[in-house]
Amino acid sequence: MDKMLVSTIGDVVITNDGATIMKELDVQHPAAKMLVEVAKTQDNEVGDGTTTAVVLTGELLDKAEKLLDKDVHPTVIVEGYKKAADKAREILDGLGEKIDPSDAETLRKIAITAMGTKGVTGSKDYLAKIAVDAALQVKETRDGKVKVDVDLVKVLKKHGKSLEETELVRGIVVDKEVAHPQMPKRTENAKIALLNAKLEIEKTEFDAKININSPDQMKMFLDEEERMLKEMADDVVKSGANFVFCEKSIDDIALHFLAKKGISAVKNMSSGDMEKLAKATGAKIVASVKDLNSESLGSARVIEETKIGDDKLTYVRDAKNPMAVTVVVRGGTEHVVDEADRSLHDALCVVRDAIEDGKVVAGGGAPEAETAKQLREYAVKVGGREQLAIEAFAEAMEAVPLALAENAGLDPIDIMVDLRAKHENPENRWYGVDVFSGEVKDTRALNVLEPLRVKVQVVKSATEAASMILRIDDVVASKGTKGPPMPPGGGPGGMPGGMPGGEDY
Ligand SMILES: Nc1ncnc2c1ncn2[C@@H]1O[C@H](COP(=O)(O)OP(=O)(O)OP(=O)(O)O)[C@@H](O)[C@H]1O
Ligand SMILES: [Mg+2]
Repeated sequence: MDKMLVSTIGDVVITNDGATIMKELDVQHPAAKMLVEVAKTQDNEVGDGTTTAVVLTGELLDKAEKLLDKDVHPTVIVEGYKKAADKAREILDGLGEKIDPSDAETLRKIAITAMGTKGVTGSKDYLAKIAVDAALQVKETRDGKVKVDVDLVKVLKKHGKSLEETELVRGIVVDKEVAHPQMPKRTENAKIALLNAKLEIEKTEFDAKININSPDQMKMFLDEEERMLKEMADDVVKSGANFVFCEKSIDDIALHFLAKKGISAVKNMSSGDMEKLAKATGAKIVASVKDLNSESLGSARVIEETKIGDDKLTYVRDAKNPMAVTVVVRGGTEHVVDEADRSLHDALCVVRDAIEDGKVVAGGGAPEAETAKQLREYAVKVGGREQLAIEAFAEAMEAVPLALAENAGLDPIDIMVDLRAKHENPENRWYGVDVFSGEVKDTRALNVLEPLRVKVQVVKSATEAASMILRIDDVVASKGTKGPPMPPGGGPGGMPGGMPGGEDY
């Protein structure tokens, strides 16, 4: 189910995204703020699994409380959790299955799993295809490693029409219009100049006075200004460009000269868009019109101004081999578009994770159930009081299939019993909760796939945050308003930097 978050001034956010829910919550308790951090870290590091990470942290703390009641010392619990987390990571690594990072069909299954839990389920197949195509388009190999920078996929939200009209543009869409009415609204075979300089007469830095004594002098002054602007426009013409994107402003007279030559321009671009345009079209951003030449230009099949609703947008379509692309998200209402944007973010991130690591696990609580089983076997070998903590950790992992069962309206106890029985046989390692049939099934066969990285990060973030909270035995009000009123952690085995980060524990 989704959550409707209502702010004090009545703003409404409808979402299923753990990171967004945690970010929007009005959290007062300092320990609860740590959980918000968990969601943030998870979102920044891997982009999905935020709800799972928060659920696991909560569960680890709950189980720890029961151990504390039995007089197990917090440091023993923390040690046990650390051992369990190391082992869990090993188990998960062993479970991970290799995939071919360019296999679009598998990547699509991963994207569909990430979106299946969101409000956009109806259009998940369509949006998953867009996410996979976008991620594969911006994939590059650096130092022998495959990298996907999801920031190179620009997501532009425009409400109206429906989710199925969401479009992947192999180029960049800019939320601005062509700067002069007489400029062409459509340019085929675009030769693109990216300019980071004003096309204006520079004002002097200090006040200067010019004495003009006759109308002739006045005319000469204005003519000279016009000549300078024409010279700038001529430099653009000489370079062979037929479309200019300018990060600064452009004088009306310069616009006029450009329009006369059939050159279009968009002014006051954001630097982010300029960088993406450079990536997408192969153009170089130059700092002066004098530096423009045929080599600094980029290309695209067509640039056109299009009206969506009340807004005019400029579409740069079909650049040769665009290393940056745009997804224009459409949807019935603003809330739908917002949630689609968040789901698309999750989908892009999981596809990136899978492409970069080339390893996946099945979902539906299967890896958690299998990890729990193997952790129990490991706990016996460790023995002592730490064994209790490792067993508690294993039980906490099972909260994931339990929560899935509960959310699907199933009986958690029945499911848990069934799941444990199935996992006794190592062949059945992918048995998890099939939320649709309400049975315990092989989720790998059901194509519920998730990147290994998400599961590994869940264990990391949750253990770090839970351990940090367990190490605190007192909350003291500190003076001043700077910083959270929590001890910053540290000490042997403590949190580096005081925050649950992505580092190894
Ligand atoms: N079709 C399915 N059947 C069973 N389980 C599924 C299915 N699709 C997804 N899941 C499971 O649902 C869980 C993910 O749920 P959800 O996406 O709501 O939370 P999250 O990924 O932890 O956090 P968030 O997406 O909010 O960042 C995973 O354990 C995943 O394996
Ligand atoms: Mg998810």
